[in-house]
Amino acid sequence: MMLQNVFIQIFLTTLIFIINAQYPVPIPPGGRMAVHGWLILPWDTNVTDGPIQAWFSYHVPEFGIDSPHNFQIILNGLLTPLSCFNTELIPQPIPIPYPPKDNLLQYEYTITPPPAFSLNDLLLENLTEFKGVIYNGSFDTIYERIPLALGILTIRQLTTSVYLNESQLIPTYPDLRYLSYPRDMSSTGDTKPFQHMYFIHEIHSIPDFDHIIHVIIDTTRCHCDRKHSLLCNNKKLLQQIRTPGIEWSFPTLTNDVKNRLLPPMIIKGRITDGPVMCPITILESIHCMIGPNFDEKC
Ligand SMILES: *[C@@H]1O[C@H](CO)[C@@H](O)[C@H](O)[C@H]1NC(C)=O
Ligand SMILES: *[C@@H]1O[C@H](CO)[C@@H](O)[C@H](O)[C@H]1NC(C)=O
Ligand SMILES: *[C@@H]1O[C@H](CO)[C@@H](O)[C@H](O)[C@H]1NC(C)=O
Ligand SMILES: *[C@@H]1O[C@H](CO)[C@@H](O)[C@H](O)[C@H]1NC(C)=O
Repeated sequence: MMLQNVFIQIFLTTLIFIINAQYPVPIPPGGRMAVHGWLILPWDTNVTDGPIQAWFSYHVPEFGIDSPHNFQIILNGLLTPLSCFNTELIPQPIPIPYPPKDNLLQYEYTITPPPAFSLNDLLLENLTEFKGVIYNGSFDTIYERIPLALGILTIRQLTTSVYLNESQLIPTYPDLRYLSYPRDMSSTGDTKPFQHMYFIHEIHSIPDFDHIIHVIIDTTRCHCDRKHSLLCNNKKLLQQIRTPGIEWSFPTLTNDVKNRLLPPMIIKGRITDGPVMCPITILESIHCMIGPNFDEKC
């Protein structure tokens, strides 16, 4: 029994080491204590009460070796409404636009737990649930953020989490790069020719910019590099495109805020670690802030 515990201890320690090893900096439990907010990017859903499925983009990241915000993070989470201030018997649906009924979000919606918490605990997957206030708007909107509801954010997966290294020695990517997250994660979405996606600009080198857009991809107009054409059928193509957090490059544009993707552009993008190329139609720009502190609007 004792020996078994020792093995479990070694196993857990190794596990934590492995989890830690994906970051080039230490993430001790309890560290990066601060107030951390999240932009809500809802999935296509036919359900408007109960929990909302969504992507959550970390708001606001910050370059800086001593900053408690020096990560870009995108979560797969569940937002469950809570009764507001005990004045309702049952929690009301969270009043934000839900795709596909509301095609465009038009405004920013955020959730912020009022108390500080440890971002490291979240990165270590030791913090998977917190209560917060859901707002229409954020610090970055031209109108003051409006509290709408109370909710619990349950983290289902840490889909993207990257340390932001502030070194001036890191070169910017030569080409514009975004990471993509499907809006329809249901199995019926696996075969839909039109794919609605959130594209999030990849933050990589100082000063950079944090840009979130909503796009649509007509997958019937995608194709593969000629040398990979044998491996590339419709199913594989859709599988690649629908992989959360996959990286796209726009080789005709330099990686600059002035070249960011804005509606009503249609532009050819390619998945960087695969042969897939697609024309991408930009439908709306949801959020855009300039680094290194991401406190200035684009
Ligand atoms: C940040 O980047 C610089 C330049 O590439 C490198 O020397 C340094 O080790 C990096 N820091 C971390 C914590 O990865
Ligand atoms: C997880 O968090 C709890 C409560 O804060 C703490 O007691 C525990 O040591 C943490 N575990 C790890 C592996 O960090
Ligand atoms: C929503 O309902 C429509 C019509 O029944 C269906 O075609 C679609 O796949 C559903 N969407 C999701 C995400 O379940
Ligand atoms: C969010 O706030 C904006 C600006 O006040 C307003 O026009 C919009 O209708 C609000 N959206 C919702 C869903 O409350």
